[in-house]
Amino acid sequence: MTDDFAIRTEGLTKFYGDRRGIEGLDLEVRAGEVMGFLGPNGAGKTTSIRLLLDFLRPTRGHATVLGLDPRRDRASLHRRIGYLPGELAFPGRGRADDLLRFFADARGGVAWTHVTELAARLDVDLSRPVHAMSKGNKQKVGLVQAFMHRPALLILDEPTSGLDPLMQQEFLAMVRDARTDGQTVFMSSHVLAEVQHTADRVAIVRDGRLAAVERVESLGRRAVRTVEIHFADPVAPDEFAVLPGVSDVVVSGPVLTCTVDGRLDPLIKVAARHEVVDLLSAEPDLEETFLSYYYHSEGAGDAARTGA
Ligand SMILES: Nc1ncnc2c1ncn2[C@@H]1O[C@H](COP(=O)(O)OP(=O)(O)O)[C@@H](O)[C@H]1O
Ligand SMILES: [Mg+2]
Repeated sequence: MTDDFAIRTEGLTKFYGDRRGIEGLDLEVRAGEVMGFLGPNGAGKTTSIRLLLDFLRPTRGHATVLGLDPRRDRASLHRRIGYLPGELAFPGRGRADDLLRFFADARGGVAWTHVTELAARLDVDLSRPVHAMSKGNKQKVGLVQAFMHRPALLILDEPTSGLDPLMQQEFLAMVRDARTDGQTVFMSSHVLAEVQHTADRVAIVRDGRLAAVERVESLGRRAVRTVEIHFADPVAPDEFAVLPGVSDVVVSGPVLTCTVDGRLDPLIKVAARHEVVDLLSAEPDLEETFLSYYYHSEGAGDAARTGA
């Protein structure tokens, strides 16, 4: 395959009756990158993913995955992809390892040591029947199933759902390892924090449309944080309100609170002219800032469509 893109969609659209699943999705996922696919529930993530795998047929538009056509090349494509569905439904009442052997055979064989490594990493007992497992353990079996044949492309729909925080971290480490090994990862989430430390880029969907594609670093630079500084003596708000990136300055006697967009340095330098007793800075909350912008602000297209 000479294609530099693992996934490429053009105008990919799916309507359920007159209900929009996803519309006009133009997306390119480069070979070897980790792309987060972000959006609130109902945004169209699962619909898009199912279109890529030919579990749904597009109303309009087209997708190319690993240089192949999802419909025409379905079987060979599925062998080369590791897919974790959003709603896991394992068939039958068999043991997890038997089920995984079945999937492994369907893909032309898998190094079983890799399966046991993945299971150990995720701390899941594969000798147990899947139907009796907790949601979290089923999710782990689903992840082993997706990763076990070292696929060129991993398509993971809400992979961390049901995992406890420790296992979420382990999963994210698996994604970073996959990236190091040259695999491409496309994973959906409705939580930015989850993909923030793993993804190279994020694509953001809202109301069935692609709202933005951004490098993760540029999200970080937009980080807005709240800062509270306790001084030994009262300070004047004007001294701080003029600083670049500083807004919402409120001074109550010796306590200053403000919002800082971007670098903290200018604020810290001015604060240091006074005696600082305490300083509190809330973690940059990208959910609150960046995502709320894309989720809640009306895009020009929407405004035009509704005639607003
Ligand atoms: N089988 C279906 N029939 C009708 N509407 C659906 C169906 N599946 C999804 N939708 C609708 O399509 C939109 C996108 O859903 P989905 O792709 O599941 O979003 P996400 O995965 O981002 O939560 C939602 O409005 C949802 O209600
Ligand atoms: Mg979904």
